[in-house]
Amino acid sequence: MDAKTGKPSNPNTTGTLTVGNKNYDFPIYKGTIGPDVVDIAKLYGESGMFTYDPGFTSTASCESQITYIDGDEGILLYRGYPIEQLAEHGDFLETCYLLLYGELPTPAQKADFDYRVNRHTMVHEQMSRFFQGFRRDAHPMAVMVGSVGALSAFYHDSTDISDPHQRMIASIRMIAKSPTLAAMAYKYSVGQPFVYPKNDLDYASNFLRMCFAVPTEEYKANPVLARAMDRIFILHADHEQNASTSTVRLAGSSGANPFACIAAGCACLWGPAHGGANEAALNMLGEIGRPERIPEFVKRAKDKNDSFRLMGFGHRVYKNYDPRAKIMQKTCHEVLNELGIKDDPLLDVAMELEKVALHDEYFLEKKLYPNIDFYSGITLKAMGFPTTMFTVLFALARTVGWIAQWKEMIEDPKQKIGRPRQLYTGAERRDYVEISRRK
Ligand code: CMC
Repeated sequence: MDAKTGKPSNPNTTGTLTVGNKNYDFPIYKGTIGPDVVDIAKLYGESGMFTYDPGFTSTASCESQITYIDGDEGILLYRGYPIEQLAEHGDFLETCYLLLYGELPTPAQKADFDYRVNRHTMVHEQMSRFFQGFRRDAHPMAVMVGSVGALSAFYHDSTDISDPHQRMIASIRMIAKSPTLAAMAYKYSVGQPFVYPKNDLDYASNFLRMCFAVPTEEYKANPVLARAMDRIFILHADHEQNASTSTVRLAGSSGANPFACIAAGCACLWGPAHGGANEAALNMLGEIGRPERIPEFVKRAKDKNDSFRLMGFGHRVYKNYDPRAKIMQKTCHEVLNELGIKDDPLLDVAMELEKVALHDEYFLEKKLYPNIDFYSGITLKAMGFPTTMFTVLFALARTVGWIAQWKEMIEDPKQKIGRPRQLYTGAERRDYVEISRRK
């Protein structure tokens, strides 16, 4: 982007839109990779028309340098680095640094970043009393949405979005405190005491300990499970302009504070078509129950008159194997091996369902491949998490992506409040009728 003009870089061609007998010329911008975009910002001013794109299937809502997805090829890059390499060789905090700062850290930068995150893992003690207000049977995502939003009531010194220092403190706080809040949401739901963070542990081990340690026993995180947890966090860290990230950007575009924006992202993520799909996928495997019942469910998924969908299949962007799903499948097997789980009926159903769907004409034709949620549910269940925690874990990991995208937006010189237009099909102007005269 050009810092002076605030225009996306390389407006090197123009495109012409013809409506009736009128032509309108618009600049076309080239990205580093991926499709070009037509800048139609002046369309309304020049023609009096809006564009119409429900679900934003053809609309780039912003310029971004963080994450790139090629859905046809099944490619996912964070700041240019393939997800496979980051998941294989890096750790989650390194990925956080990369997403926030744009480059992989040097050893000194990494040590400093780890230190800064570790210094912020505790939440204000008053937060634990805030938790007591929730019903014990509240969904942990409800608790997460509420408690993340509540951070803005506790950290007034990092809500001034015009101050770069405060923006960075808020970013570090969100990355550091989201595991603490997620673990507290879990502990509260099972009626166990909160476990304070322990800063000499790595991010994933610390989180597992906060979830599964009890005051009566020593706890040491299993390194295979900690590595799997860390990898799950890396795989979920960012995914360009998905629904929850766009929600964070839209909320932030009004100048709302970062904690409130991340709470908005959590709320959006909760839906079963987005982050709630891992919970829905596992519930569906449980409902199917036995491999023999798969054809019945596949038939329902294909039936136009039945709203049932195979959860964990399909993606708005990936029309090929989700690259995260491949890594997740491997991680899933590592976890099951480590825990000695060989004959899990859910796994049998999952493996058979994957086979059937990958060979079925309907799924092939519509390019519906298993997505990350298909395998993450099985893995998380094996690790001991209840299904209600799955979306919470997704939110924990995605926090860094949300915050990096929020920061990028705030620092974008052409940032303005997000305000889509509409195609109005309601009543035309009409006069008010007194209630006594209405039939
Ligand atoms: N099972 C059966 N049919 C499906 C499925 C599915 N899981 N997904 C899409 N279809 C069909 C759909 O009925 C439609 O058929 P037709 O063209 O005949 O009307 C066609 O495929 C295209 O579907 P769409 O709803 O227009 O596609 P979309 O891009 O709007 O939806 C999706 C993407 C992820 C919401 C959808 O595939 C879905 O609901 N999947 C199940 C939920 C799920 O696993 N979500 C997790 C996504 S990955 C995690 C994340 O990034 O949040």
